[in-house]
Amino acid sequence: MVNHYFQNILTFRDKRLFSFISFLPPDSPPYLCPAFQKHFNKMTKPRILIAGAAGFIGSHLCDRFLAEGYQVIAMDNLLTGDLANIEHLFKEKDFEYYHHDVTKFVHVPGKLDYILNFASPASPIDYLLMPIQTLKVGALGTHNLLGLAKEKKARILVASTSEVYGDPLMHPQTEEYWGNVNPVGPRGVYDEAKRFLEAITMAYHNYHQVETRIIRIFNTYGPRMRLNDGRVLPAFFGQAIRGEGLTVFGDGLQTRSFCYVDDLVEGIYRLLLSDYHLPMNVGNPSEITMMQFAHEILDLVQNPKAFIDYRPLPVDDPKQRRPDITKARTILGWEPKYDRKEGLRITYEYFKVKVQNAG
Ligand SMILES: NC(=O)c1ccc[n+]([C@@H]2O[C@H](COP(=O)([O-])OP(=O)(O)OC[C@H]3O[C@@H](n4cnc5c(N)ncnc54)[C@H](O)[C@@H]3O)[C@@H](O)[C@H]2O)c1
Repeated sequence: MVNHYFQNILTFRDKRLFSFISFLPPDSPPYLCPAFQKHFNKMTKPRILIAGAAGFIGSHLCDRFLAEGYQVIAMDNLLTGDLANIEHLFKEKDFEYYHHDVTKFVHVPGKLDYILNFASPASPIDYLLMPIQTLKVGALGTHNLLGLAKEKKARILVASTSEVYGDPLMHPQTEEYWGNVNPVGPRGVYDEAKRFLEAITMAYHNYHQVETRIIRIFNTYGPRMRLNDGRVLPAFFGQAIRGEGLTVFGDGLQTRSFCYVDDLVEGIYRLLLSDYHLPMNVGNPSEITMMQFAHEILDLVQNPKAFIDYRPLPVDDPKQRRPDITKARTILGWEPKYDRKEGLRITYEYFKVKVQNAG
């Protein structure tokens, strides 16, 4: 770890000097001097840039890396994110926020040990509304952040998605599956942006020897999701709490698998610190049909006015999604800890307040 590296150098080379400054005997450890302690902490703490930090997943990553003792630089242009997700962190001395669009040249002064690229519209409503920004952030944004990683000799982890498998013909999806994507369909802007993100990340790894990590995230949920982001889970919660129809597309037999956000964050943390540079699935393999899922939400919310409202299936809606997580299990020792019941219970508390505040 970089931390250890600095610690070794400093205790070895600078011990005498700093002990002198602090008027302590030369064999005292340098961390006994309070003035130096502050400076030393700054130098030894790993420093991480999180792009997309004001978003749902990015904000949870900020919390986790601060809790792990990192200095966190949060970057976002608030395209789909919300400062409210990270405002509780502004008082932290190890937290900085840069308002910046990563499709423009990215400069961060000082050292950087790690970069997480989580900047991108991620929900269908967002990327259908902002197709060009979605393609640009996947392509130009990722290129800029890879360039920064190369310059700083930082390790970079990029957020890819199960959408790279498109409407998969293989089930469950292993990382070796190349996918079934319609490049010119409405979802193509997101799927192809992420496929490019993976390709350019591998190119930087192979050509420039940048230390890269690629995570393929499957549907994730939890507090700080937006109520109206077009994803099924907030939609169901909003509709159930308000006592409306829960929109189920087609016959409702299409499946998804939902991972609680804390489990995902643990997977990201482990992958970043691992030696594995090929794409890795992280998600919860527990699969459920949309019809069953709607019933689970109805049971949880217990609003007698809510009901299931069947609508025609949208274009290119994937029919099945379930990650094969053998790699995450064997390489990272990772598996989801939250079952759906527990994760939904926590998330329901969050959405209750959201719906109330939305009036
Ligand atoms: N949530 C999921 O289930 C899921 C699944 C698969 C992959 N992912 C990936 O994880 C990442 C985060 O997703 P999320 O659900 O937190 O979405 P989100 O929309 O909540 O967060 C994305 C953040 O990126 C920011 N952003 C967008 N374009 C930017 C730009 N050009 N410059 C700087 N910031 C920019 C947004 O303002 C937002 O804060 C995305 O890359 C997404 O593709 C998410």
